[in-house]
Amino acid sequence: MSRAVAFLNALAQALSSLGLYPAGHRSRERALDLAFERLLDLLNEDERPEFSFLGDEVVYRTMPLREMRAWEWSQRLADAGIQRLQFDRTATREELEDFLGESLARLTLQFIDTAEARQMRPSGIRFGVLGIQGADELETREIATASVSYSLREEADAVRWMHEQVSDQRPLPLVEAEAVVRALTVAMHGDQAMLLPLLKLRQADEYTTTHALNVCVLTMALAEWLGLGARDVRAFGIAGLLHDIGKVAIPHDVLTKKSGWGERERQIMSRHPAAGARIIMTSSSDLDLAAVVAYEHHIMINGGGYPTLKFGRECHRASLLVHVCDVYDALRSNRPYRDAWPAGKVLAYLEERSGLEFDGHVAHAFTEMMREWEPQVTPLHAEEALPIG
Ligand SMILES: [Fe+2]
Ligand SMILES: [Fe+2]
Repeated sequence: MSRAVAFLNALAQALSSLGLYPAGHRSRERALDLAFERLLDLLNEDERPEFSFLGDEVVYRTMPLREMRAWEWSQRLADAGIQRLQFDRTATREELEDFLGESLARLTLQFIDTAEARQMRPSGIRFGVLGIQGADELETREIATASVSYSLREEADAVRWMHEQVSDQRPLPLVEAEAVVRALTVAMHGDQAMLLPLLKLRQADEYTTTHALNVCVLTMALAEWLGLGARDVRAFGIAGLLHDIGKVAIPHDVLTKKSGWGERERQIMSRHPAAGARIIMTSSSDLDLAAVVAYEHHIMINGGGYPTLKFGRECHRASLLVHVCDVYDALRSNRPYRDAWPAGKVLAYLEERSGLEFDGHVAHAFTEMMREWEPQVTPLHAEEALPIG
């Protein structure tokens, strides 16, 4: 990890020097030497280092680099269309210099299209927007299968562990929740196209975990679809991940009951939004949005749902998004009391209930997004790698 940070710092220095000094200048050559040296150090411990620049965030492989949070170059590179940067062992100093040159050209808006050059000459450095632009089809395929592969196993384990912590009355592990959301953000942008890595439920007791992850992914995708910025998308993602955290207090037999609920079960169930908000608020004051969403995610826009409200309430936008994504994932999953519905039936249901249960604009955007992105939905089990393509 520290080698990745050392390399990025040297890279920033080289970018500055290249902007200041002409070719052949000693300072420029020294900065390039140093950057290349750091790259070789990094390649020694990681054969295919890969960075994502998500605006205010730098992600190395799937881990966000906390040390680089305030790194100004991340935003600049992302704005210049370099959101993803990959190296392999064949990378040369000359290629690094070329890459820095093109980055600078993009940064200073003297955009020179070197796509053709890159196509002709295979390089150990690849970069671009959400995948690699300008590469020919063959190369793209190669990149897709060779360098991007995610498994959600770790994320599923982390979520399961978070739920255990909370049910043992321990504080909500915030750092893990944030790490899961960041890892999902990277998995969603792993290839040229947006991906929706959704988990398919295999066993009934996995539901809490898969549901939390799926609602998180869907909420972030919808937030992005609606044009929200990266920071908001992640905040909405945390809210999606934690929306049902109040269910940890619900007895197992109520959660897994096969037939319809009686009044007692209904009452117990209807407490989970307030319980969730409480758990989140006592864990961190930074998570007020997640707490609001936990409280509001079953409130319908016509005032129905629960908790029962004495006075009408306009729910936060994040709650409107989570509500739709929540119902979608619940209906798409096998439950003890009914089988999963096919996607088309769920989307029709959301449309039918739009304006009553769901906010019309949000429900419409969601169904539109799912129809458009259906080929990008990647159903996977927690232990499987996510295939790209
Ligand atoms: Fe819920
Ligand atoms: Fe839910």
